[in-house]
Amino acid sequence: MAYLKPDRPEKVYVPALRKAKKKGKKLVCLTAYDYPTARIVDEAGVDIILVGDSIGNVIHGYGNTIPVTLEEIVSATKAVNRGSSRALIVSDMPYGSYHINEDETVANALELMKHGGAEAVKLEGGRNRVKLVKRIVDEEIPVMAHIGLTPQSVHKLGGYRVQGKTNEAAQALIDDAKMLQDAGAFAIVLELVPREIAEMVTNALEISTVGIGAGAVCDIQVLVLHDLVGLTFGRLPRFVRQYADLRTKMTEAVQAWMDDVKSGEYPNDDESYGLPDAVDIEELQS
Ligand code: KIV
Repeated sequence: MAYLKPDRPEKVYVPALRKAKKKGKKLVCLTAYDYPTARIVDEAGVDIILVGDSIGNVIHGYGNTIPVTLEEIVSATKAVNRGSSRALIVSDMPYGSYHINEDETVANALELMKHGGAEAVKLEGGRNRVKLVKRIVDEEIPVMAHIGLTPQSVHKLGGYRVQGKTNEAAQALIDDAKMLQDAGAFAIVLELVPREIAEMVTNALEISTVGIGAGAVCDIQVLVLHDLVGLTFGRLPRFVRQYADLRTKMTEAVQAWMDDVKSGEYPNDDESYGLPDAVDIEELQS
């Protein structure tokens, strides 16, 4: 008897990325930090959900990613895990969680996998992280690397600027990417990198590049969901294309509800409960 395939899309695992690259098939990645947004992006068909440390900017309002804790990412990953069934879940290792020593880094990555439900981890840095990436991969934990603009280095870099702007810096990015691939990373985020350099990196690698502000050639595109749907505050970077304005929609909904409450329109009889037969209102009032 022919095996009937269940009527649902196949779960995305790490090897699917390399297969997609070989076929020239683009994949997509979005951030999510909670159950409802994980459900929405997973059901929409996004291939990878990144539980990014951008949670620090987007959800906690810290202003940058430096204060984000491992506990915050574990908690967000648990919620995302409950809300998704198909996408590959990649969790960011927050600042400080991979900076002390290798053993502590592995313990923190294991925490994300065992208790959070992450299926891979992401960390920032180039050649300085090669040994660490190899060690984590040796412990059966898939690693996504992240080069170009690395927001956890904001104080060192002095802001969020395009990287790889000299021959030397561009060559360093290409070399870093190759070294991270050799160390066992399964994908590399390229953030704020000139598109020509991103193309050179993408063509030089067998593993996938995940572009954000790095042009169209990257194998995978990633964005912060809240930027995409208009739920962030302040000026958006030029690489963001906003597809909805949920902030305005939510403000309008809240104001409409407030107006209805104040005018006595809300709640109406259908939105409240009538007196049960067993209750004698006259007796209660006497
Ligand atoms: O934390 C994050 O959302 C990220 C993406 C911007 C790649 O690292």
